[in-house]
Amino acid sequence: MPSQFGAVQLAHEFLAAHVREGDLCIDCTAGRGKDTAFLCELAGKSGRVIAFDIQQAAVDSTKALLAERGLSAEVHLASHSRIDEYAEEGSVSAVVFNLGWLPGGDHSINTRAETSIEAITKGLRLLKKGGIMSLSIYYGRDTGYEERDAVLRFLRELPLTEYTVIVGEFVNRPNDPPISVRIYKG
Ligand SMILES: C[S@@+](CC[C@H](N)C(=O)[O-])C[C@H]1O[C@@H](n2cnc3c(N)ncnc32)[C@H](O)[C@@H]1O
Repeated sequence: MPSQFGAVQLAHEFLAAHVREGDLCIDCTAGRGKDTAFLCELAGKSGRVIAFDIQQAAVDSTKALLAERGLSAEVHLASHSRIDEYAEEGSVSAVVFNLGWLPGGDHSINTRAETSIEAITKGLRLLKKGGIMSLSIYYGRDTGYEERDAVLRFLRELPLTEYTVIVGEFVNRPNDPPISVRIYKG
């Protein structure tokens, strides 16, 4: 394993193990489009990928990456707190969150505890049985710790009869390394 194995790779391994051709997947934080593109590749031509971001720069970057790779997704300039307007309950195979700021963008525009928790709550409802949610939580520096703490508190309270929640930490890395969360809906 390379020493710089990171949260993106962990999330992609998790997604690759569960997403199948034809699946419906949602990327709640499109950013530069890496996760959206990865989901498109996994879900294939018969699948459907929906992505959200509140910044035009992120939507543009994501669409450009998809075009470059010959992939297609529905990319919305909208808050992920509205995901329930775009998919039916119990219909989604995978929901992805990458909490933090747009890479190479304005650090003051980042995900927030209140909207993230609203979107996670709705995303869990949209998941079908056997569906998964991946969260990569970036925190610290310009973002602070409030969102990380609130999201982890919320996840610890999820009913164990419905969800299995695994929280992964890079314990031998300095400087607030990201936290990788895997949720399985049983
Ligand atoms: C860490 S970045 C995502 C990185 C992305 N996965 C990639 O591959 O580049 C977080 C993104 O969440 C977006 N964001 C912040 N609040 C949001 C919200 N309420 N709804 C949707 N996106 C949001 C930011 O604009 C930013 O682009």
